[in-house]
Amino acid sequence: MAAVIVHGGAYAIPDHLVSAKKSGVHTAATSAHKALIHGKTAIDAVEIAIRHLEDDPAFNAGHGGALNVQGEVELDAIIIDGKTLEFGSVAAVENISNPISLARMVMEKTDHVMLVGKGANIFAKEMGVAQVDAKELISDFSKEELARQSVYKHVVNDSFDNQLEHDTVGAVAIDIHGNMAAGTSTGGITAKRVGRVGDSPLVGSGASCDNEIGGTSCTGHGESIAKVTLASRVLTTLQKEGCSPEEACKRSLEYMKTKVSGFGGVIMVAADGTIAKAFSTKRMAWASVDKTGTVQCGIDP
Ligand code: GLY
Repeated sequence: MAAVIVHGGAYAIPDHLVSAKKSGVHTAATSAHKALIHGKTAIDAVEIAIRHLEDDPAFNAGHGGALNVQGEVELDAIIIDGKTLEFGSVAAVENISNPISLARMVMEKTDHVMLVGKGANIFAKEMGVAQVDAKELISDFSKEELARQSVYKHVVNDSFDNQLEHDTVGAVAIDIHGNMAAGTSTGGITAKRVGRVGDSPLVGSGASCDNEIGGTSCTGHGESIAKVTLASRVLTTLQKEGCSPEEACKRSLEYMKTKVSGFGGVIMVAADGTIAKAFSTKRMAWASVDKTGTVQCGIDP
C-alpha cells in the first residue's frame, strides 16, 4: 500500500492561475507516488513532492515565495516522520531554494528540531546547501502581490471572494512499509513583518504525523491555524470522535472558523491509507494518488 496527497494552498485562487496550480500539484503527487512504488520512504516522497512545488514559481514556497514588507523572501518549512515523531523545521530562512530539504537535514543531522533565520542559513552553509541570489526566488506574481498591499492586515470575516494569498504547499504520504510522513513549506503571507513566522514550521499547527493515527498538512491563515493547532486537532478529532478522516478535517476547519474567524485547508492520510481533504476557502489546489493507484486532482469545492 502506498498513497500520497499534496496541496498547493487554499485561498481565493484567481481563474488565471487555476491551470498552473492544477498541473503543479498533479506533477508533485504523481512523482511522489512513483517514488513510493519504487520503494522510497514516505519521508522521501514528501520531500520529492514539496521540492517540485518549491521549484515551481506558481506556488508560494521556495521560488515564488511571498515577499515581506521589505520585499524579501523569508521561507518556513517542516517535515515529520510518523514512525519516530522526529521532525525538523526551519523558519525565516533566506537564499535557499528548497527549505523542505534543509528541514529534513535539521531532523536527520542535528540534535535540534528547529533552526531559524541566521542560524538556519549558517547550518545550510555547513551542509553544503547552495545559497541562491535572493532575487532568484522572487517571482513577478509575488512583486504584484506586494504592490497590491504594502502592509499585511488580517481582515476578520474576510469575504469568501477576497481571501488573500495563503498559498502554502504541503504533502502527506504512506509508504509500502506503512510508515507515514508529512511536510509543509511556505513563503508565508505577503507584506508580513520581517521575521514573522506563521503556522507552517510549527509542529501540530502546519503539519502533524503519527503512524498510529495519520498525517496532516495545513494551509490558510497562519496565525489562526497556530491558535487552534489545526494539524494536531484533525488527528485528535479523528481519534477521539470516531468520524471519517474527511469529517475530521471538516470539523477542525469549522472549529477554526467559529473560534478565531480563520479560513484554510487540510490534507490528510489516515493510518489505514485513506486519503482526505477539506477547505473553507473558495479554492484549494490538491492532487492525490490513493492506495489503489487512482490519481485525482482538483481546485474547486
Ligand atoms: N499558512 C502559511 C502562513 O500563514 O504562513
